[in-house]
Amino acid sequence: MMRYGVVGVGYFGAELCRIMNMQEDAKVTAVYDPYHGAEVAEEIDCDACSSLDELVTREDVDAVIVATPNYLHKEPVIKAAQHGKHVFCEKPIALSYKDCDEMVKACKENNVIFMAGHVMNFFNGVRHAKKMINEGVIGDILYCHSARNGWEDIQESVSWKKIRSKSGGHLYHHIHELDCVQFIMGSMPDEVYMNAGNVAHSGENFGDEDDMIFINMKFAGNKFAVLEWGSAFHWAEHYVLIQGTKGAIKLDMFEAGGTLRLNGEDTHFLLHETQEEDDDRTRIYKGTELDGAIQYGKPGKIPPMWLHSIMFNEMKYFNNIMHGMEADEEFRPLLTGDAARAAIATADACTLSAKECRSVKLSEILDK
Ligand SMILES: NC(=O)c1ccc[n+]([C@@H]2O[C@H](COP(=O)([O-])OP(=O)(O)OC[C@H]3O[C@@H](n4cnc5c(N)ncnc54)[C@H](O)[C@@H]3O)[C@@H](O)[C@H]2O)c1
Repeated sequence: MMRYGVVGVGYFGAELCRIMNMQEDAKVTAVYDPYHGAEVAEEIDCDACSSLDELVTREDVDAVIVATPNYLHKEPVIKAAQHGKHVFCEKPIALSYKDCDEMVKACKENNVIFMAGHVMNFFNGVRHAKKMINEGVIGDILYCHSARNGWEDIQESVSWKKIRSKSGGHLYHHIHELDCVQFIMGSMPDEVYMNAGNVAHSGENFGDEDDMIFINMKFAGNKFAVLEWGSAFHWAEHYVLIQGTKGAIKLDMFEAGGTLRLNGEDTHFLLHETQEEDDDRTRIYKGTELDGAIQYGKPGKIPPMWLHSIMFNEMKYFNNIMHGMEADEEFRPLLTGDAARAAIATADACTLSAKECRSVKLSEILDK
C-alpha cells in the first residue's frame, strides 16, 4: 500500500484524492488545505492536517501530491523532498525557471521521485499521435500550431487563475500545449518571440493576465511553431496541429477528436478513451458551463468525465512508479524534471521577449 498526502484540495486536488483512493494499492492518509481541508478529509475519510509541516513529517505519508495554486507549489515540493517524500506536482510546476530548477534539484538531492503533472501526455489521442510521429507516419515534423482561445465573461469573483502573479496567466497556466509542442518537435526552441496584451478584460471585474498571447518559435533544423492563447476570442478554438513532410495530424480539443491526414485522406481517432468522452468534451466546450474552456474549475466542482479519465491514467501511472514500475521512454522526461524545466524555461523566454520586445534565445534563460 502506498500512502499519499495531498496539499491543496480544491477543484483538482480533491479529485486527485478521490482517484488515488480508487487504486487498489493506494490510500490518501492526509490532506492539508487551510480552507477546504476539513471537508475533503471528511469526504474521503482521512486526516486533515493543520499545517504543511504536519503533513510532510507524517510517517504514514510516502508521497506528496501538490495541487495548490500555481504560485504556491514551491514550498510544499521542497519540504516534501527534504522529508524524504516522493512528489507529484501539478502544472505549471513553477512560475520561473529558477524556482522550477530548485524544486527539481531538491528532489534529486533527497533521492525522491519528482513527477510533473503534465496531464495532456495521458490523452489517448496525444499518445496515439506521438506513436505515429515516432513511427515516421507523417515524416519529419516541420511546423506545429496550437491555439487555446475563448471568451471570458464577467465572473462572480476574480479567480487566482486570472491573476498573473498567482497563475502566470494563460502562458504558464495552460502550459500543456507548450509542453506538447516541445515534445513533438523533440526539443526546446532555439529562439522565441512573444507578443501579448490585455485587449478586452481590464478593470475590477477581471484579473490582470494578458487575454491575447501570440508566440513564434524557431527550432534547430529550420522548424517552426506558432502558439496562441487567450480569453478575448469569441470564435473559440482549442487544438494542436502538426505538419510533417508526409502528412499532418490535428488534435482537436474543441471538436474533440484526432485526425491523421495522409495523401488527401483523413482518418479519425479518439482524443480520449471513448466516443462518449470526446462528445461530452465538445458538449461542454459549446455549452454554457465552459466558454471555450475559459471558465475554470473551483473548489467543490467535479471535473468532467474526459478529465476524470486522464487524471485517473495519470494517478495510476504515478502510483505504479511509486510501486517500483520502470518508467517507459515516452514518460521519462516527466520523471527526470526535464519536461518541467523545458516548459518553464521556454515560458520564461517568452515572458522576457514580450517584456523587452525582442527575440530571446533559450540559452539566455538556461545559462543564467
Ligand atoms: N492538469 C490540469 O489539467 C489541471 C486542471 C486544473 C487545475 N490544475 C492545477 O491544479 C492546481 C490547483 O488548481 P485547482 O483548479 O484545484 O484550484 P482551486 O482554487 O480549485 O484549488 C486550490 C486549493 O488550494 C488551497 N490552498 C490555497 N493556499 C494553500 C496553501 N498555502 N496550502 C495548501 N492549500 C492551499 C485552496 O484552499 C484551494 O482549495 C493548480 O496548480 C492548477 O494549475 C491542473
